[in-house]
Amino acid sequence: MGHSLSPHMHQAAYSHLEMDAKYITIEPDPLDLEKTIKTASQNGISGLNVTIPFKQDVLPYVQTDKLAKRIGAVNTIDFSRKKPIGYNTDVGGARKSFEHHGIDLSGTNSVVIGSGGAGRALSFMLSDSGSNVSIVNRTECKAHELSKSVPSSTGHGFSELTNLILESDILVNTTSVGMKTDVSPVPIGSLRSDLVVMDAVYRPLETRLLRDAKEAGSTTIDGAWMLLYQGVESFEIWTGKKAPIDAMNNAIRSNL
Ligand code: ATR
Repeated sequence: MGHSLSPHMHQAAYSHLEMDAKYITIEPDPLDLEKTIKTASQNGISGLNVTIPFKQDVLPYVQTDKLAKRIGAVNTIDFSRKKPIGYNTDVGGARKSFEHHGIDLSGTNSVVIGSGGAGRALSFMLSDSGSNVSIVNRTECKAHELSKSVPSSTGHGFSELTNLILESDILVNTTSVGMKTDVSPVPIGSLRSDLVVMDAVYRPLETRLLRDAKEAGSTTIDGAWMLLYQGVESFEIWTGKKAPIDAMNNAIRSNL
């Protein structure tokens, strides 16, 4: 998620703090990820971001922290210790996106649409924050599968979406619907003013779902917040410094 904007965001942070550092993109050898990781660590690189589709594939080659192990995906690798350590900052990024908007998740009911990588991170985060999570996926069996590992969650098909939203406080889209075409995965009539709607899609920043939600008076959270806060957490892991959040946020929004 967000690989093409990450160089802008991190470079802006380095400039702001006057750090002599560079964020570069590396095309890994998909058949030899171990070699890519080793080579990077031996060439003075402090750490790596891992993007789709490699977030699960790198697991055997890093020592995962507790959260990354539980989620089963790594998006950040740190080389500051003897062994490369794998973290998942997507979860914290999602949590901070809600915190930033002053939303308390405990005791809420939430609907997560999608059960890919982003759906997984959001479902765990919501559940850990005290929300009862309904996972809705086009391929229904994947929603059931994911719900088995996420506490306080249930899996559903799209036919149940409208009814589930009726009983929910939070709605999150983690599918790619709305990215290339101006369509929403949610019927406009199911959106309400007391709903918080988050879209993990950030291109376009205002998806059809978020536009519909604004029109219905819902509180909206765009996908650039999650991109920002996962980057903030990764920056702090790699550098040990407090991330300049405003500079990073400006860099994302001005490059979208
Ligand atoms: P990511 O890691 O970014 O979440 P992914 O693993 O490819 O990406 O997952 C994509 C998610 O979007 C899946 O939940 C997928 O549903 P399926 O499991 O049924 O494939 C969902 N998705 C993609 N296109 C969709 C569409 N047109 N309608 C509904 N769901 C869609």
